[in-house]
Amino acid sequence: MQQISFILNGDHVDAWVAGHEMLLDVLRDHFGLTGAKEGCGMGECGACTVIVDELSIDSCLFPVMEVEGRRVETVEGLTLPGGDMHPLQQAFLEHGASQCGFCTPGMVMSAKAFIDDQQQSGEKATEEVIKHEMAGNLCRCTGYYQIIEAVKSLVNK
Ligand code: FES
Ligand code: FES
Repeated sequence: MQQISFILNGDHVDAWVAGHEMLLDVLRDHFGLTGAKEGCGMGECGACTVIVDELSIDSCLFPVMEVEGRRVETVEGLTLPGGDMHPLQQAFLEHGASQCGFCTPGMVMSAKAFIDDQQQSGEKATEEVIKHEMAGNLCRCTGYYQIIEAVKSLVNK
């Protein structure tokens, strides 16, 4: 076991982990953060998406040792101080884009990474770009229309 330190949803944290552990398991088992889900476990569904240093990643395939000293954001960290919903959560709610608890956390985190990056760069994003950015998050039961609409409501602002 080795000790690692990183910033988790704004707090400095330490954890004793085995070298082979993936970030998803450490988030769920060590920290009780169960928002990120294991869908495929193979980097294909996006249910496990979290943000590491501003990039959305599949935490099921991300070795936990690689987060040493870095910033990790999970869906649990989105709620604003005071308990208000993050604008993304609000947008998902308003557009009926919150689907099941399995795919939605990953969708929201992918959207957050994309929107933060887009707002920082100031580059306009087309609908095609939004679809491309969200393509790594799969839902096997419903359409993607509401999700794209929710993301669209926050980009290009
Ligand atoms: S569980 Fe990680 S991509 Fe599917
Ligand atoms: S997988 Fe979540 S609504 Fe389809």
